[in-house]
Amino acid sequence: MGTIAKTVSVIHGPNLNLIGTREKEIYGTITFEKINDELLQWGEKNNITVKIFQSNSEGSIVDYIHSIRDKHHGIVINAAAYTHTSIAIRDALSAVEIPVIEVHLSNIYKREKFRHLSYIAPVCLGQISGFGHYSYILALDAITRHIDSTHN
Ligand code: DQA
Repeated sequence: MGTIAKTVSVIHGPNLNLIGTREKEIYGTITFEKINDELLQWGEKNNITVKIFQSNSEGSIVDYIHSIRDKHHGIVINAAAYTHTSIAIRDALSAVEIPVIEVHLSNIYKREKFRHLSYIAPVCLGQISGFGHYSYILALDAITRHIDSTHN
């Protein structure tokens, strides 16, 4: 798939480190470590370097996004609760001009109303929501295809 060497960041927001033990009926039982292993393996198979970052703090996520400016080709982000609150993360994503796909494990539109608003969505290529950990794989696939299509 494609010819250029690609590096994609997967950014996990707050409380996602507890996935597998947290609200299993919503988020499933697969652990955070296992999800990340699968993403790294997917990257190896598909010839892209996947870098994983998780933080529970908004400022650290903003700092991380700044640090990959001009270095990474794509971002897959599950900003978790910050999706619904953070103009700072949205502005950081917009500032670095790296293509972004927003992901959620759960279908945020089937849940409480406060989860229906995403501050991140308007600065993303698209959003994948509701497929459990598979949402991340779908997003990696989509961002890889996007990067290839814009570098040929
Ligand atoms: C989530 C959905 C958010 O509303 C919630 O705050 C999360 C996880 C998801 O992956 O389904 O922490 O982003």
